[in-house]
Amino acid sequence: MGGGIAQVLAGFGGYQVTVRDLTQEILDVTRETVVESKWGVKRAAEKGKLGFDQATRTIELVSYTLELGDLAGCDLIIEAVPEKLELKQTLFAELDDLARAETIFASNTSGLVITEIAERVSEARKGRFLGMHFSNPVPVMRMCEVITTPEVDADVVDQVVEVAEKAGRAVCMVKDQPGTYGFILNRVFAAAYREAKKIVDDGLATEEDVDKAMITGRNWPAAFFGNRGGIGKQW
Ligand SMILES: NC(=O)c1ccc[n+]([C@@H]2O[C@H](COP(=O)([O-])OP(=O)(O)OC[C@H]3O[C@@H](n4cnc5c(N)ncnc54)[C@H](O)[C@@H]3O)[C@@H](O)[C@H]2O)c1
Repeated sequence: MGGGIAQVLAGFGGYQVTVRDLTQEILDVTRETVVESKWGVKRAAEKGKLGFDQATRTIELVSYTLELGDLAGCDLIIEAVPEKLELKQTLFAELDDLARAETIFASNTSGLVITEIAERVSEARKGRFLGMHFSNPVPVMRMCEVITTPEVDADVVDQVVEVAEKAGRAVCMVKDQPGTYGFILNRVFAAAYREAKKIVDDGLATEEDVDKAMITGRNWPAAFFGNRGGIGKQW
């Protein structure tokens, strides 16, 4: 996700982006994803979706680092580490110490509660902390849910919406809610999935027919059981 987010922020938004990860090997794979993969910059240029200059500029705008300290000067830090609350809390506490007071923090969590992720940052930072949930693969799926908490400042929300829109995202606003998992996209999808699975478990229809119904009857590009792709890395 991190690579895809970097790609659209640089490619459409024109922002300078620094990707930070834990090993050089992982950074090399992320760079490969941004530049060479199915949804990468080169292929977009070959298909005429991105001009040659824009493609070159996108590649130049994304840099890669192993040093957390290299994020100190960022205006916005978007976290996309694995979906573990403790890991995200620890990382944001570290970032809170090194980032500038004005820096905005955002989590790309699929569904963890934003106020819980923000639990270990300063009270001031909680006013500059929200969710930015992108959909995978980011260069293809235009959605960005902006998740607001009761603490976040209105001007921070405005700035983040502007960044997401400049990066070509369709912004969907949603409030954080303790006790739930997911925002709009994943809650609605999970509810539909529960029904689809119940229909199959009750022996009323096969997985193939449930998928076929949603793909041909609602024009979904993919449905629940892996027929024609599905969410995740298999796209
Ligand atoms: N994959 C999806 O379809 C999808 C969609 C929307 C949101 N998300 C959310 O995005 C986040 C990342 O998901 P993903 O699928 O990209 O996971 P992933 O496991 O593919 O990537 C996570 C990356 O974080 C790195 N990482 C781990 N600890 C780190 C640290 N302390 N500092 C910096 N980097 C660190 C890992 O090395 C890895 O490269 C999760 O919260 C997930 O729920 C995923």
